[in-house]
Amino acid sequence: MKRILTVIGARPQFVKAATISRLIAKNDALAETLVHTGQHFDDNMSKVFFDELQIPAPDYNLEISGGTHAHMTGAMLGALEDVMMETKPDAVVVYGDTNSTLAGALAAVKLEIPIAHIEAGLRSFNMAMPEEINRILTDRISSLLFCPTQKAVEHLQSEGTQARIEHVGDVMYDATLFAQRTSARLSSILERLELEADTFGLCTLHRAENTNDPARFRQLCTFLEEQAARTPLVFPVHPRTRKLINEQDIQLANIQMIDPVGYLDMHRLIDGATTVFTDSGGLQKEAYFHRTPCVTLRDETEWVETIDAGWNRLWTSPASDVARVNINDYGNGDAGSRIVQSLQSFLAS
Ligand code: UD1
Repeated sequence: MKRILTVIGARPQFVKAATISRLIAKNDALAETLVHTGQHFDDNMSKVFFDELQIPAPDYNLEISGGTHAHMTGAMLGALEDVMMETKPDAVVVYGDTNSTLAGALAAVKLEIPIAHIEAGLRSFNMAMPEEINRILTDRISSLLFCPTQKAVEHLQSEGTQARIEHVGDVMYDATLFAQRTSARLSSILERLELEADTFGLCTLHRAENTNDPARFRQLCTFLEEQAARTPLVFPVHPRTRKLINEQDIQLANIQMIDPVGYLDMHRLIDGATTVFTDSGGLQKEAYFHRTPCVTLRDETEWVETIDAGWNRLWTSPASDVARVNINDYGNGDAGSRIVQSLQSFLAS
C-alpha cells in the first residue's frame, strides 16, 4: 500500500480534490492522508464543499490563514513539514496555484518526497499575480505534472522540464458531472433568491489584482453596473471583496450581493445565468461546462481555449459573434481516474 499526502486549503482545491480523493478511497493500492492548511476557513468557503462533495474530513487541519503571503506560506511550510515527517508519505499531491500549493510542494521537495501537481502548466505570463509565481515554482519542483489542456503541456515542454508530463483533462469537469446529477434537485438557490432561469447574470470578483487597486476596482464595478442595467446580476461576494465594499461603502445598482455559495448552488446559478462575469479561473470553465457565455474580468486568462472556442472573452475585448464550438481539451470526465492510475503506476515502479 502506497501512501499519498494531499494538501488542500482554498475553495477551488476542495473541488479538485473531491474527485481524486473519492477514487483513491476505492483503490486498494493507495491510501490518502488529507491535510487542510486552513487557508479558507469560513463554513461557506470550506465546510460546505466537504459536505456537498462528500470529501472525507481532513486528517489534519493546520488552521493557518490570513496575514501576508510570506507569513501564510512560511507558517504552512513548517507545519506541513512536521506532518510529512510524521506520516512519511510516498508522494505528495498538490492542486492549482495557491499559497497552500506552493507550501505543500516546497515542504515535500525538501524532504525528497515526489510531488504530483494537478492542474500543472497553466501560465498567464503575468508575474504580478501571486498565482503565477506559485504555479511556476510548483511545476519546477514536481515529478508528475498533470495538465488540463494541451496548451499547458506546451508551456511545460518549452520550459524544458525533466518531469513526467501528462495531458489528462480537467478534474473540474469530472466534478461538474458529479454536481450536475444532483444540483438541480438539491439546490434551492433560485427559489430562495426568487430568480427565474435566464433572467439574471452571475458575477464574482476576488483576485488581488482587482481588489488591491481601488481605481481598478471602481472601474470594474462601473463595468458590472453597465451590464446590470441590461440584465440584473447576482453577486456571491468573497470575504476580501466584502471587506472592500463595506470599507468604501460601495453601492451597486441592480446587483444583488449575497454571501459566498456552496458548490451545488453555484452550479445551479451558472446554469441559470445568461452570462457569467468573473475573475475566477475555475468559473470560466464551469461556465463553459454549462454552455453559459463568460466575460473574464482580467486582462489575460490561462484558459485561452475558452476564448478561442467563442465561449469567453476578456472584459477589455469587444463582444464578437464568433461561432461557438466545443472544447476537447478538458476530456470526458475521466481526468481523475487517469491521474490515479498514473500515480499508482509511478509509485509501483
Ligand atoms: C486564494 C488564492 C486564489 C484563489 C482563491 C479562491 C492565493 C495566493 N490565492 O485567494 O488563487 O483564486 O483563493 O477563492 O493563495 N478570508 C476569510 N474567510 C475565508 C477565506 C478568506 O475571511 O474563508 C479572508 C482572508 O482572511 C484574507 C482574504 O479573505 O483576508 C483573502 O484570503 P486568502 O486566503 O489570502 O486568498 P484568496 O483571495 O481567497
